[in-house]
Amino acid sequence: MEETWKAVDEYFEKKLKTTDDTMDHILKETDDAGMRQIEVSKAHGKMLYLMAKMVDAKSILEIGTLGGFSTVWLARALPEDGRMATIEANPNHAEVARRNIASAELAALVDVIEGQALDRLPKLMERGYSRFDLIFIDADKENNVEYLKWALKFSHKGSVIIVDNVVRHGRIIDDTEAQAIPYIRQLFDMLEHDGRIESTAIQTVGQKGYDGFLMGVVK
Ligand code: DHB
Ligand code: MG
Repeated sequence: MEETWKAVDEYFEKKLKTTDDTMDHILKETDDAGMRQIEVSKAHGKMLYLMAKMVDAKSILEIGTLGGFSTVWLARALPEDGRMATIEANPNHAEVARRNIASAELAALVDVIEGQALDRLPKLMERGYSRFDLIFIDADKENNVEYLKWALKFSHKGSVIIVDNVVRHGRIIDDTEAQAIPYIRQLFDMLEHDGRIESTAIQTVGQKGYDGFLMGVVK
């Protein structure tokens, strides 16, 4: 089945232009830098861009930059006076991301903030950020619950929050310690009782195998 998922993603790539030279360049640079190819798929990257457009996002927060692939997709949806902050713990990844964002001519809109997200998030206000229209959480899974709490603090009515990798080949419902599953499950436990956000989760297959994302709109 995995081969079929990949082939269908390639079909979408051709028909729907889920990539372009800039994005292909970013993927190559990220790969050449020896980083793991764990960024979102092409179709998923474009979906993030479309979601940001749907809500007319003017401010975006990303937790977990990696090589800047999803960052660039999201930043492309911003108007000229828009702003995006993206937080990356690994200095080498942050460096690759800065270069990739510059190659996409989006450096003026995107603030790549280096450091542990839990250290940097409390200081975003000092950098002039207050509320974000869209927040994408895609960093270390162990801190997902804390990241969601911060995302809610930085939200307004209608803010969209998206969390990557919440299915992990279906392991989310298994009694396993692998792939930070217990921490991902904590996220669902929190949402089960949290009245501040309406959410759903979608299982996905494709280029990146079987996984899924969570999305919600803040009440
Ligand atoms: C993996 C995939 C991701 O999208 C991510 O954010 C972290 C890890 C993985 O496949 O291991
Ligand atoms: Mg991810």
